[in-house]
Amino acid sequence: MEKLTVFNIFSSFVFLFSIQLSKAADTITPASSFIRDGEKFVSSSERFELGFFSPRKSRYRYLGIWYKQIPDTVVWVANRNSPIIEPNAALTISNNGNLVILNLTNGAIWSSNTSRKAENPVAQLLDTGNLIVRDNFSRSASEGSCLWQSFDYPSDTLLAGMKLGWDLKNGVERYLTSWRSADDPSPGNITNRLDIHVLPELGLYNGSQKLSRSGPWNGIFFGAAPSYASILSEPILVDNEDEIYYSYESYNNPIIAILTVNPSGTVQRLIWHERSNGWAAVHLAPTLFCQFYGHCGANRVCSYEKTPNCECLKGFKPKSQHNQTRPGSCVRSESADCKSGDRFIMVDDIKLPDLLNVSLNKSMNLKECEAECLKTGDKTGSRKSRDSLLPFFSLASVSAATNNFGVENKLGEGGFGPVYKSGQGLEEFKNEIKLTAKLQHRNLVRLLGCCVEQGENVLIYEYLPNKSLDSFLFDTTKEGLLGWGARIRIIEGIAQGLLYLHQYSRLRVIHRDLKPSNILLDSNMIPKISDFGLARMFGGDELQSNTKRIVGTYGYMSPEYAIHGFFSIKSDVFSFGVLLLETLSSKRSTRFFNTNSLTLLGHAWNLWKDDRSWELMDPKLQCEASYPIVMKRYINVALLCVQKNAADRPTMSEVISMLTNEFVNLPSPQQPGFSSLKKSVETVARSMNRLTLSVMDAR
Ligand SMILES: *[C@@H]1O[C@H](CO)[C@@H](O)[C@H](O)[C@H]1NC(C)=O
Ligand SMILES: *[C@@H]1O[C@H](CO)[C@@H](O)[C@H](O)[C@H]1NC(C)=O
Ligand SMILES: *[C@@H]1O[C@H](CO)[C@@H](O)[C@H](O)[C@H]1NC(C)=O
Ligand SMILES: *[C@@H]1O[C@H](CO)[C@@H](O)[C@H](O)[C@H]1NC(C)=O
Ligand SMILES: *[C@@H]1O[C@H](CO)[C@@H](O)[C@H](O)[C@H]1NC(C)=O
Ligand SMILES: *[C@@H]1O[C@H](CO)[C@@H](O)[C@H](O)[C@H]1NC(C)=O
Ligand SMILES: *[C@@H]1O[C@H](CO)[C@@H](O)[C@H](O)[C@H]1NC(C)=O
Ligand SMILES: *[C@@H]1O[C@H](CO)[C@@H](O)[C@H](O)[C@H]1NC(C)=O
Ligand SMILES: *[C@@H]1O[C@H](CO)[C@@H](O)[C@H](O)[C@H]1NC(C)=O
Repeated sequence: MEKLTVFNIFSSFVFLFSIQLSKAADTITPASSFIRDGEKFVSSSERFELGFFSPRKSRYRYLGIWYKQIPDTVVWVANRNSPIIEPNAALTISNNGNLVILNLTNGAIWSSNTSRKAENPVAQLLDTGNLIVRDNFSRSASEGSCLWQSFDYPSDTLLAGMKLGWDLKNGVERYLTSWRSADDPSPGNITNRLDIHVLPELGLYNGSQKLSRSGPWNGIFFGAAPSYASILSEPILVDNEDEIYYSYESYNNPIIAILTVNPSGTVQRLIWHERSNGWAAVHLAPTLFCQFYGHCGANRVCSYEKTPNCECLKGFKPKSQHNQTRPGSCVRSESADCKSGDRFIMVDDIKLPDLLNVSLNKSMNLKECEAECLKTGDKTGSRKSRDSLLPFFSLASVSAATNNFGVENKLGEGGFGPVYKSGQGLEEFKNEIKLTAKLQHRNLVRLLGCCVEQGENVLIYEYLPNKSLDSFLFDTTKEGLLGWGARIRIIEGIAQGLLYLHQYSRLRVIHRDLKPSNILLDSNMIPKISDFGLARMFGGDELQSNTKRIVGTYGYMSPEYAIHGFFSIKSDVFSFGVLLLETLSSKRSTRFFNTNSLTLLGHAWNLWKDDRSWELMDPKLQCEASYPIVMKRYINVALLCVQKNAADRPTMSEVISMLTNEFVNLPSPQQPGFSSLKKSVETVARSMNRLTLSVMDAR
């Protein structure tokens, strides 16, 4: 961060500004500074750099963004159409938030044309490679503070988190456009865009001529098979009334992966190869004949395995037998007639044909579609319920698997340990594992088996490589890894898991210790609620219970539980609200805010009252979140969850409907319970005299 050279027109102030800016070398404001040719602007963890450059043989200057360690690959260019002919231009930000490139005589060469009014605009280069202009004094949460962002104006490269597709509300299409040539960043003829006629798919074009297509999105990936790239990053397709776009999220931060279009008419996915200090193409199209659009005619399959490489589909024959040099289309060998035994046949490993003339039933999901297809097919296969009996393992095998419970195999205590010892009696223990084994949900950690031998009681859970949510929220080395989309998916997953525990499992389960360290993340960052050690199970309608021994984690416990030992599904809802605020803000609930020793809940409430709840957001998210309104709704829901009175809190099914349905009218929250840290500590301390309280400190 110290590497930024600060320039100021009044040299006598240079010292002063150097000090101010060394704290935030990734930001510029109207008054303080600008970036001159030769100077660099670096994102906070030094992943990206912004500056002026000349491509290869060109003598013109451009303003661009690149990975700091790969200055030769420019991923974004500001003034593609307006090269700087005379050297020594500078980037400035005007009082109304416009980014402007000025030449030596202060003539504007390029401008971001920001149209919204700003009170205190700040330009910032984020670690995602997004250059943003935000209003540091935004009062209006519904408008959001993001005025402009480079991610809305893609050049030839798609970075993780950028959107390729359609903003339907404003009728704007965002797509990649190649450079004219390696020396000239002005827009060329090659584009890569999201086609949305029927099912979304990526298309590569030369002008209006289609060169190649990805194959339609099937709900998980494009085309016939997940690409190698999806191992390194998760493809995302958002399709709703407001927007349709493709994006990808790179979870594995050290890996640099980009999607880029070349003037030569190809689209490439590139991975930076550290050791060879070069790019490796994990995908390059079109290069093989099957990748060229329309290489084979209608009803033909292009194959690499057999010759001729264009084959008619089963039941079809070539339209013309005579010309094999350029394969034409195929026609049905016999007329289609269901009575004569036509039915669905499985064709493996094939990209669906271009869907030029089909209709789509959007209310049917893949499962229903599959069921619909199966109805007409073979009916002999039965959908056997899987044996739910929990496997018992021998102590010897568990011991062997963990290298005799060696320290090197110990993942941690309680939270995410694969080995869990219980102090309960044997019968109780067996009973509990039987119950736990019945709890099966995508958002709960799965119990794989158990072992009861020689006085040792061991539970075996699935292993989740990405550890727990708290490390992503609070560990500064992982900062910025969780984008808005990932957080939304995590929150929704936790809500679903909790709803299952509360409502849909055969037993009503209250978790009692919901917190980020108990949310484990699988390799796809899908959240799994863990640590049922404290969970209570209820039969039937028993909704509330009372305990003399309070176990939970300070900062997440509801007032009625911490003070009176009452717990119910609503105490879990309280913890969920705290967790939601922490996930949005990346701040711990027990951190002090202001001099009033406010908790995160009190802080959130104060911002909410002043209609400034936007400021609660993790600043790294403020420009990535496309929907300030969604954010505001999430904060509203979180505040409803942490209401002082349990009765005022929603149930988890209400929470889910409020989070996902923008048309639900949300009640206004009152001041939450435990807003002031001092007060809550005093209250809990008082109650300790009456009850046995074992409180674990949040790690
Ligand atoms: C600076 O830009 C202005 C307006 O674009 C132009 O009229 C002027 O000639 C430029 N000056 C130089 C030195 O290039
Ligand atoms: C900004 O507006 C001017 C005038 O309308 C236009 O010529 C220019 O291309 C715009 N710049 C950008 C980056 O859109
Ligand atoms: C944003 O505003 C806060 C509060 O007024 C101030 O402390 C901070 O320095 C400002 N940030 C920038 C980059 O100007
Ligand atoms: C783009 O296409 C036009 C006409 O189709 C052609 O004249 C021009 O040379 C092409 N540009 C490049 C960079 O290929
Ligand atoms: C794109 O089309 C133009 C003609 O419109 C052609 O000259 C050029 O070679 C084509 N480029 C590619 C990469 O196909
Ligand atoms: C076969 O197809 C090629 C390419 O379309 C065409 O040039 C040729 O005339 C065709 N030959 C016959 C016999 O139709
Ligand atoms: C689309 O399908 C309809 C109904 O099957 C048919 O009448 C029409 O000719 C088709 N259009 C094209 C362009 O193939
Ligand atoms: C679409 O699918 C849904 C769910 O299977 C079904 O209820 C509906 O009738 C279908 N609509 C049409 C037009 O086929
Ligand atoms: C999540 O787990 C997968 C699989 O082990 C790993 O490749 C990935 O790097 C992890 N993601 C993060 C952000 O740690």
